[in-house]
Amino acid sequence: MTSIEQTYRLNDGHELPAVGFGTYPHGRDDSRESTQSALDAGYRLLDTALSYENEAEVGAAVRASDLGRDEILVTTKVPGRYHGYDATIGALRESLGNLGLDRVELYLIHWPLPRVDKYVDTWRALIELREQGLTRSIGVSNFTEAHLHRIIDETGVVPAVNQIELHPYFPQEQMRAVHDELGIRTESWSPLGRGGLLDEPAVVDIAEAHGVSPAQAVLRWHLQLGVVPIPMSSNPQRQRQNIDLAGFALTDEQVTALSALEKGRLKGQDPDVYEEF
Ligand SMILES: NC(=O)c1ccc[n+]([C@@H]2O[C@H](COP(=O)([O-])OP(=O)(O)OC[C@H]3O[C@@H](n4cnc5c(N)ncnc54)[C@H](OP(=O)(O)O)[C@@H]3O)[C@@H](O)[C@H]2O)c1
Repeated sequence: MTSIEQTYRLNDGHELPAVGFGTYPHGRDDSRESTQSALDAGYRLLDTALSYENEAEVGAAVRASDLGRDEILVTTKVPGRYHGYDATIGALRESLGNLGLDRVELYLIHWPLPRVDKYVDTWRALIELREQGLTRSIGVSNFTEAHLHRIIDETGVVPAVNQIELHPYFPQEQMRAVHDELGIRTESWSPLGRGGLLDEPAVVDIAEAHGVSPAQAVLRWHLQLGVVPIPMSSNPQRQRQNIDLAGFALTDEQVTALSALEKGRLKGQDPDVYEEF
């Protein structure tokens, strides 16, 4: 089985590909082309957000694709300015309008914004949107253990996914354990550390030992942790490389060596205080 074909079963019974495609920051100019080449390369899980301002381009690529609509999983996210029940219901309708689609497969709360303190009502809206069939699965992004427990305690509904910053500089061991306990699938944003990791001697050495690129070594690390990376690349050749992960496996020592690169978040975006609207 290639890494493209590998999937995980989410806690709601739906399947999620083991690797997805990040679409930010392509911007309006090249999102359509990049998404088209990513679909051609074999990606089936796409990651966008209302705040990326590229939903129209991502949606156009999905609609233009020869693939059936049910073969492509589109993720989008509700931004901070739409937190609250009614606003969130409107936000997904706005996203669907931008995408030109009648549903997405995964809808996420982009950031918890605890100071605003509307994420529980926002989560209630996602539950309703799933019931209306406008999204197949629902999840969150950048939620801490406390945020997860609060929405689960108040609604009884466990997110299918939590998309968090995760790469060898920030392996998130504790959040992965929390997710395992709650039955939540982890997605990794900035899985390549925005490219900065790829010159690390440990990464380069491991890549050379397997005859693969540094990015492939890092993405294989994600795969072996059981988390779903969503690497972004505008370059069709690198897009193909980033899902060509099946022909080699890291040893346990190599997985540990990459996790030992831990030094913290790339930009200090701590979900307890970071705000993005
Ligand atoms: N939920 C959230 O709050 C959140 C936050 C940030 C990001 N995200 C999502 O996560 C996705 C990925 O994160 P990201 O874009 O920040 O970082 P990333 O995927 O870790 O890194 C992207 C960078 O790596 C380069 N790159 C990709 N493949 C490569 C390869 N094989 N060899 C060498 N360089 C390579 C890209 O350049 P080229 O384009 O030139 O290849 C780009 O500069 C985003 O697109 C977005 O969808 C979510």
